[in-house]
Amino acid sequence: MAGVSHSALRIIVKECGGVGLLSTEMLSAKRLPSENPQFSPFVLKSAIETPMSYQMLVSDPEDIPRAMDKLHQFGAQAVDLNLGCPAPRVRKGGAGSKLSEDHGLVKKVIATARRCTDLPLSAKIRIGTELNKEKLQDFCKMLAGEGIDYLIVHGRLHKEQFCRPPRWEWIAVAKKSVNIPVIANGGIFTASDAKQCLRITGADGLMIGRAAPQKPWLFAEINHALYGGPPPPAINRPALYKRFIDILETTFPEGRQIGRTKEFSHYFCKNYQFGHHLGSRVQNCTDMKQVHQVARAFFMKQEPEACKTGWPVL
Ligand SMILES: Cc1cc2nc3c(=O)[nH]c(=O)nc-3n(C[C@H](O)[C@H](O)[C@H](O)COP(=O)(O)O)c2cc1C
Repeated sequence: MAGVSHSALRIIVKECGGVGLLSTEMLSAKRLPSENPQFSPFVLKSAIETPMSYQMLVSDPEDIPRAMDKLHQFGAQAVDLNLGCPAPRVRKGGAGSKLSEDHGLVKKVIATARRCTDLPLSAKIRIGTELNKEKLQDFCKMLAGEGIDYLIVHGRLHKEQFCRPPRWEWIAVAKKSVNIPVIANGGIFTASDAKQCLRITGADGLMIGRAAPQKPWLFAEINHALYGGPPPPAINRPALYKRFIDILETTFPEGRQIGRTKEFSHYFCKNYQFGHHLGSRVQNCTDMKQVHQVARAFFMKQEPEACKTGWPVL
């Protein structure tokens, strides 16, 4: 998720456990060749963040070879092609869901990416511009035919917003059309959602977006409830929030910390009945020192016991 799925979030998700594959946010294929993994907040990565898939945002197949070289240099373990982003800025540039509407160009993009890497290659799509079973299935078959190894399906049409429930039954339509693994995405916030989504879609795996910054421990809960993994660790939420901002402060360039803290807080604050107090106060902060102050004051009020160990006054 743009502005959200960066190294700091991936580290805390990984530390909570249960996750099978991590992902970057969408990375422009045009800009990838000039990204510096030591400074760029988009491609910063620590050793614990593995296995990791890098998501490429493409509008021109000619950008792929150099971008893919760079992903190989970064040590990518999988590559995902974004064919679903409906953001106007992305569509205007001919990428994301806009690219997916030009099947000829999609074919070229997939074929080029396939030629440029032996890594597992996936495509992430929405279910189309309209509810049309045949079109969706033809599209999925075409993607599989061009050589992707697995398909990620977000169960919403291009124009549909998040306030609408995802259409998991349409992910099932996509799943039935191909012989490669299908990963279902959209609207999974609890282990019970995960179970129901797998039942309805018949998918082979799940991708979780917004719930990752809200409940970084959800992967461990799902792994335990559905796959017999170890029980999730005891979570100290103030400590987890503090761990997140500590990682940002130690590894991200100074000017890149506050924006990412605001994005994360927007989701994490949903764990509390009065979480919007945290969300709006952090939004008004102008530096990380203020974030520490407002966040600690909030957590002290909400969870004083947890703060004794999770966020002690030094
Ligand atoms: C702030 C934000 C940023 C996102 N950025 C990306 C992105 O970079 N690449 C992508 O494939 N999807 C992106 N998405 C879509 C999510 O990956 C996911 O498909 C969508 O949120 C539905 O899943 P969820 O209900 O688990 O959040 C983004 C969504 C949000 C809310």
